[in-house]
Amino acid sequence: MSYHFDQPIDRYHTDSVKYNIFDDPSTIPLWVADMDFVSPSPVIEALKTRIEHGVFGYAFENKPLRELLVKRMADLYNWHISPDDIVWVPGVVTGFNMAIRAFGRMGEEVLIQTPVYPPFLSAAPNNGLFTKSAPLVYTQQDGVLHYHIDMDVFQSAIIPGKTKTFLFCNPHNPVGRVWTEAEIRAMAEVALENEMLIISDEIHCDLLFDNHRHIPTASLSPEIARNTITLMAPSKTFNIAGLGASFAIIQNQALRNRYAEMVWNAGLHINILGLVAMHAAYEHGDDWLRQVLAYMQANRDLTTQFVNQYLPNMPITHPEATYLTWWDTRAVSRPPTQNGFMGMFEGFFLDKAKVALNRGITFGAEGEGFVRINLATRRDLLQEALERMRSAIIDG
Ligand SMILES: Cc1ncc(COP(=O)(O)O)c(C=O)c1O
Repeated sequence: MSYHFDQPIDRYHTDSVKYNIFDDPSTIPLWVADMDFVSPSPVIEALKTRIEHGVFGYAFENKPLRELLVKRMADLYNWHISPDDIVWVPGVVTGFNMAIRAFGRMGEEVLIQTPVYPPFLSAAPNNGLFTKSAPLVYTQQDGVLHYHIDMDVFQSAIIPGKTKTFLFCNPHNPVGRVWTEAEIRAMAEVALENEMLIISDEIHCDLLFDNHRHIPTASLSPEIARNTITLMAPSKTFNIAGLGASFAIIQNQALRNRYAEMVWNAGLHINILGLVAMHAAYEHGDDWLRQVLAYMQANRDLTTQFVNQYLPNMPITHPEATYLTWWDTRAVSRPPTQNGFMGMFEGFFLDKAKVALNRGITFGAEGEGFVRINLATRRDLLQEALERMRSAIIDG
């Protein structure tokens, strides 16, 4: 089946946080990470069938869904898990907060790599712990930013006995890196040496461009698997984030039992429609996924080309994964403006271009002067947004 991503879809008045946070329909929202695309048809059909049943009591997942995930991990990553390794959680942010709550002790540190998805910064303090950052470093070539890990920075950020958890973003939001096996292995081994639990957020694992391949952290060795909680979800991949259905994979039984108990006792359960959508998406959604990735990759390419051509003193990432780009706007002089709802938006672009972008500082101190842009939208709307941003920068 052929999908068309160029169709205009009015998302105002659909309880969409991306749109409904603005009163003004002329604002182009390129912020929160969801797509302006209709989900795969098999997902919609499965939901319709389930809705027609009309009874929506508490959910309990079916065995075939576990088997499907076991097969997916083996097929995609040669990673062999067992059906019992899976623990359902309503969301990935909930999932890593619960992991820190279950295994962190008051006063310990959680290591993160800034700039990073803002809930990574709040996860430790939410649960009585401290955030410690080992910032990523970047190089710049021909207007493109390339981020990597400096292992000296990583290692020296760890205080043995105190930095006990590593919250890892793999692939990384917002810098768009697909980490290599060598990078993941180096960090995982340092984590083992320092008895540091790894929580590996792999929510973006299916959103890969070019021929990049995702490597689940826990797939690297049995020792690393025993020390890792992996979080995945169909939510970003198939644009069903509003349905609240994600999962943890925990191969260490002691960790899994403690984690599952914590999740259960907190009353966190998966949404029944989310479960149905997840099953249909993983079973029948890959054709749609291939097509949407090709569309978003073309959006990425035209964005990089546009910025390099018209805004040459604004380096940006050319993401290997995620449909998000990260722009260094520090060379662009901007008058001070209000930064939108809870300081989340970059005021200059919101005021002058009516384009809503995530403000870099919310991703950590290293994000100061940067903005994050969501490319998962109709091409003509993206082009309009780019043009508006260009004029705002040129005209001041
Ligand atoms: C790295 C990362 N983790 C988690 C989430 C959100 O997950 P959820 O909506 O399942 O809590 C996002 C959303 O953008 C993300 O980028």
